Amino acid sequence: MAEESLSLLEIRPEGVYLDATAGMGGHTALIAQRLTTGMVISNDRDGESLQLARANTAQWAERIRFHQGTFGQLESAIAAEGFQKVDGLLADLGVSRYQLTEAPQRGFSFLTDGPLDMRMDQTSGATAADLVNFTAEKAIADLIFQLGEERRARRIARAIVRARPIRSTLHLADVVLRAVPRTGRLHPATKTFMALRLAVNDEPGELDRLLEIGPALLRSGGRMVVISFMSADDRKTKVRFKALGQDGRAVILTRRPLEPSEEETRRNPPSRSAKLRAVMMMQ
Ligand SMILES: C[S@@+](CC[C@H](N)C(=O)[O-])C[C@H]1O[C@@H](n2cnc3c(N)ncnc32)[C@H](O)[C@@H]1O
Repeated sequence: MAEESLSLLEIRPEGVYLDATAGMGGHTALIAQRLTTGMVISNDRDGESLQLARANTAQWAERIRFHQGTFGQLESAIAAEGFQKVDGLLADLGVSRYQLTEAPQRGFSFLTDGPLDMRMDQTSGATAADLVNFTAEKAIADLIFQLGEERRARRIARAIVRARPIRSTLHLADVVLRAVPRTGRLHPATKTFMALRLAVNDEPGELDRLLEIGPALLRSGGRMVVISFMSADDRKTKVRFKALGQDGRAVILTRRPLEPSEEETRRNPPSRSAKLRAVMMMQ
């Protein structure tokens, strides 16, 4: 939904834009291409992704400033470039194709073997291995149930604790597969892996911070676009944007969330669950 994001951001050639989730630099490049004297501040908490984004956007380098940090650090990223407010903020939530499928050493996927890491920022915090090997069974079950919406969480948590130490992504996937039978199309470990990823990176807390801080970083007339892939994230975004609208602080630009076209989901199947919402700040 790159085109929709860009048209909702209404890029001005001399504007300053914040790409909160640089990933591999796709959106950053599309914004940079439309600038003359403007700037994109392109942020990601993943240092490896930022290196890729830098390489992929090299031809617009003079219009882009990269920053490594979380959503909670966005204010200091723009302050470091000499700004208090920006004209637009884009957040494309979740993990990138690079993290999920092109970098088995990052441990996000159970399709290839790798260390159970899952940290977007590999320089700090507990890994997924720390979580599964050193957390109490009940806490693991709660986490898989709440974040992964996995009904069979207790059985999975029990199997995990019995199989400790769990050393790799394939080892964990195998433990889950033995604990719960395959039903339907989803691999039985899908929800467990998602729950661990969300916990390791505190993604729910990070989205709360983004929705709290983001609107305050925009000038009057500035726009915020959020693309989410999980219904819980879309719901939170919807509620926050609605509250901003009711307080008279923003105008909602998407009464209903935009979804990818059939053509886009055919070209890029993981985009199938994407939902895009946007607001324009009034004050
Ligand atoms: C879906 S990808 C973005 C893809 C990007 N729009 C592109 O065009 O290549 C999401 C990115 O957001 C980053 N990310 C997720 N949560 C973050 C957070 N709380 N703070 C900073 N970056 C985050 C991830 O590391 C990942 O690289």
